[in-house]
Amino acid sequence: MKILGLETSCDETASAILQQNESGIHILSNVVASSLELQAKWGGVVPEQAAREQIKSIIPVITEALNVSRITYHDLDAIAVTQGPGLIGSLLVGVETAKTLSLVWHKPLIPVNHLIGHFYANWIQLDDSSFVKSKNKATTTQRKTTNEIPNFPCLGLLVSGGHTDLVLFENHGQYKYLGGTRDDAAGECFDKCARLLGLPYPGGPQISKHAKVGNPHTYKLPIPMQSSNDLDFSFSGLKTAVSNLVNRESLVEKTKNDKRINDMCASIEDTIIKSLVQKTLKAAKIYQVSQIMVAGGVAANQKLRDILALEIRNSELDIKLFIPTPKLCTDNAAMIASAAFFLKPEDPLKIEANPNLSLAY
Ligand code: KG4
Ligand code: ZN
Repeated sequence: MKILGLETSCDETASAILQQNESGIHILSNVVASSLELQAKWGGVVPEQAAREQIKSIIPVITEALNVSRITYHDLDAIAVTQGPGLIGSLLVGVETAKTLSLVWHKPLIPVNHLIGHFYANWIQLDDSSFVKSKNKATTTQRKTTNEIPNFPCLGLLVSGGHTDLVLFENHGQYKYLGGTRDDAAGECFDKCARLLGLPYPGGPQISKHAKVGNPHTYKLPIPMQSSNDLDFSFSGLKTAVSNLVNRESLVEKTKNDKRINDMCASIEDTIIKSLVQKTLKAAKIYQVSQIMVAGGVAANQKLRDILALEIRNSELDIKLFIPTPKLCTDNAAMIASAAFFLKPEDPLKIEANPNLSLAY
């Protein structure tokens, strides 16, 4: 069974072909064309520009995915596409392309919620498959391992640029929303704090890089909603605290090589991670889960990966932790195709892009 996945929710145009066999779900090709350089230039995503880039890249990435897989569209069993949430202009490019291909190629079409798709990166086997980065032509090879996949019930932490949610998966397609951010998402907080410090977009990897050589104890930042009784998060206060510190210390772009930037980044990263880890473990205890999976761009953060694993060990809870390989944490189409193996096709003529899809129903 082979599925072509398309992902165009924001500034990445991605296409992947995945195959499911008795040993699990495998990547045949995974192509990502990113307009990141343009976004970096403007300090963030400009929706109109992102949509224009999607139009330029969508057909080339599909062609490349088929070529790398060494198959033709005749070999596909279905097409999967991100239906939402995301930027409407970007989403429309993927959804309308997928609907057209579904009708012309006579293939079933499976709409996928991008947020659910992120979690399904945890179902992908990391074998010797190709990971092609379009535009800058970088090609990397993934590690060869046979990874375990999550079982249900499983607690899920989604940490992306636009969402921070805790959900309890009871089965495929069956989940309960436990809590989420009341304002900014964790990734958004990384991006906004980086901007305050004069660091380029996207901020997460930048803050993480500076944090590696910084001291997290120089600047004290409050851990948001630490003692709240719920499983919610809040990151906008943290951004304000960072803004006040930046002003107090007169930290501007000119001070880029200043050690204080590194210390500030270390504090920001530390505080965001503490908030995420505390609430995740709290949820794990309340719902007595034995499995936790993490997904979304921020899950690529090495410190989050390490601290969560360490705190699970320290808690003596018997919990297995699943986090996708970093390349599959940020937006890609492999995760969309992976989710589609567990979902049902819908009438292509009735599928519409929905920028407001969420996990909280
Ligand atoms: O999941 P994603 O690729 O796109 C959305 O669906 O939003 O997440 C993008 C977010 C950005 O905010 C970016 O700064 C953050 O993920 N991110 C990271 C790291 N890599 C990406 N945050 C912290 N550390 C990283 N290494
Ligand atoms: Zn995403």
